Amino acid sequence: MPRKIIIDSDPGQDDAVAILLALASPEELDVLGIVAVAGNVGLARNAKNALRIVELAGRTDIPVFAGCPGPMMRKLVTAEHVHGDTGLDGSNLPDPVKTLEDRHGVDFLIETVMSAPENTVTLCALGPLTNIATALVKEPRIAARLEEIVLMGGAYFEVGNITPAAEFNIYVDPEAAATVFACGAPVTVMPLDVTHKMLTTPGRMKAFRDLGNRTGAAIAGMLSFSEHFDLQKYGWDGAPLHDPCVTAWLLAPDIFSGRQCNVEIETASELTRGMTVADYWLITDKPRNAMFIRDGDADAFYRLLTERLARLP
Ligand code: RIB
Ligand code: CA
Repeated sequence: MPRKIIIDSDPGQDDAVAILLALASPEELDVLGIVAVAGNVGLARNAKNALRIVELAGRTDIPVFAGCPGPMMRKLVTAEHVHGDTGLDGSNLPDPVKTLEDRHGVDFLIETVMSAPENTVTLCALGPLTNIATALVKEPRIAARLEEIVLMGGAYFEVGNITPAAEFNIYVDPEAAATVFACGAPVTVMPLDVTHKMLTTPGRMKAFRDLGNRTGAAIAGMLSFSEHFDLQKYGWDGAPLHDPCVTAWLLAPDIFSGRQCNVEIETASELTRGMTVADYWLITDKPRNAMFIRDGDADAFYRLLTERLARLP
């Protein structure tokens, strides 16, 4: 029985790969819908990119919704410097024919979780947590009904990427992140600590190009654009591939390792706004509210990605 998931995303080149990996795995994952959130670029463009991605995969049956246009309490911060003005620069994907659903994405999240049997829906969060936190505020009962929330965000040993202290998804909407981490649902975190080990080396990028399908060509084009910023910044032999770690956790959890521990979010200090304070060494007796993933087998991760993406058009 495939696992029911809702993907909440700000596509974003790495979001696109995460979504495509999910769409390439219908035996394991039943994607109930995709909800766009403001993050990498503005909501309208992220939503349009999500439509482009389901069309690329030949999965226009998947409903796509627009969620919240900005953080719960703060001014939106975007990342065109990484993802380009469209948010999906390098993809060369045409304007979508498919259109967004009329319902607000937050209402789709609530109605889907409330109507499904308990513990059968997993939320995959690939961007700022605004939509999920807003759903939790509007209908707190969803927290106890969710199977799991798997999110890309935060860092502990790798600290920050948008500031010295914070990772982008958490930084954009720290109040939303605080709400999600405190909601009581099982939360699994894919932080920079693990995504910084999943580098798009030249050999791995060649494997995407050599897939020979339109998906491989689009991914190679997208990542060739988005990796520039991180290659310059870090000087590594590849750029971190963040969001597909969320999908890979659902498909192959054994390639990852981490620890159940307390994770809280800084929302008061401007200096450390959005910092994920992970009690990884179990110093306190605070509730261990998250599975914090620290490591992963990069070769296994890319083998999974390449094998699955070959299945798409
Ligand atoms: O910090 C990396 C995260 O921010 C990824 O989700 C990327 O898509 C951007 O949203
Ligand atoms: Ca993202």
